[in-house]
Amino acid sequence: LSGGALLAIESSCDDSACAILAADGRILAEAVHSQNEHAPLGGVVPEIAARAHLTVLPGLVARTVEQAGMTLGEIGAFAATTGPGLIGGLIVGSSFAKGLAIARQRPFIAVNHIEAHALTPRLPGLSSPPLSFPYLLLLVSGGHCQCVAVRGIGNYEKLGGTIDDAAGEAFDKVAKLLGLGWPGGPALEKLAREGDPTAVALPRPLMGRAGCEFSFSGLKTAVARVLAPYGREPLPRQHAADIAASFQRNVADVMADRAENALGMAPDASALVVAGGVAANGELRARLETVAHQHGIRFVAPPLRLCTDNAVMVGWAALERLRARSTLDLGMEDELAV
Ligand code: KG4
Ligand code: ZN
Repeated sequence: LSGGALLAIESSCDDSACAILAADGRILAEAVHSQNEHAPLGGVVPEIAARAHLTVLPGLVARTVEQAGMTLGEIGAFAATTGPGLIGGLIVGSSFAKGLAIARQRPFIAVNHIEAHALTPRLPGLSSPPLSFPYLLLLVSGGHCQCVAVRGIGNYEKLGGTIDDAAGEAFDKVAKLLGLGWPGGPALEKLAREGDPTAVALPRPLMGRAGCEFSFSGLKTAVARVLAPYGREPLPRQHAADIAASFQRNVADVMADRAENALGMAPDASALVVAGGVAANGELRARLETVAHQHGIRFVAPPLRLCTDNAVMVGWAALERLRARSTLDLGMEDELAV
């Protein structure tokens, strides 16, 4: 890596992010701009997201370079997420990074977004001793929900994923039904603290079944059914809190059950790792930690800013690929099976 530093861009959903990493993985600068255009619309609008990335990225990159005390000329390589994600944003971010790379005749490294989430817990200094392969990743965000056996760089096995909604999507939809804002996960968790998790009978989809597939749409529909009798009447706060607590408890139960099965499918895993925005959820983290300890393995959850979409993870995945001398090609397709 000539110049000793790598600049990375992430733009696959609604976060525009840039980071600069030293060749050894030290974070020299990082910045995330979370687009607020989508909140009033109740979800991410791809076209609006792509245009916002285009507006935000030039300034964000300039600020990140300044924060690192460097100039663009001193950057030795450029990386960006090329998939999977919303295609407009991917094109904006990766074209921007490729443009910078071509202008300075530096390498460009294409990064798979899921691989970036999967390798983040290996960032130097994040866990002690450093996380080694193989480990089990539970990736739970607004867009992703899957169990992946991470065996090495480029060696991933998807053990199961959602057959309908992602976990974060379920939190967001149920929060919406309860009249909470978007994104709903944090608001729902807060409300759940005032509720009784055993008060409302809700299903636990796929619980007790083999494999580690997920399903959340039935749980969401069950909440809608509980709420139906209220029509347009305001929901009593205690009842809303009980529903939130019961929903969250069931999601945690299902996740623990799925993680248990996944560990059975990857018995060589040395750690259980959770990433994605839903990993912010305290109840879920606690349950998964218990599962890991019952299996006698470590539980690793990167700090929240590195669990949600960010560019540090993109830079780190690019460095891991460079070190393994196995960079992805420049295509926009999902090169990995996961
Ligand atoms: O990883 P992320 O920032 O973006 C992507 O989807 O890629 O994840 C956002 C998702 C949203 O669905 C949000 O509601 C959920 O993570 N989330 C939570 C919590 N904080 C964020 N879900 C449950 N509990 C939370 N505390
Ligand atoms: Zn993500």
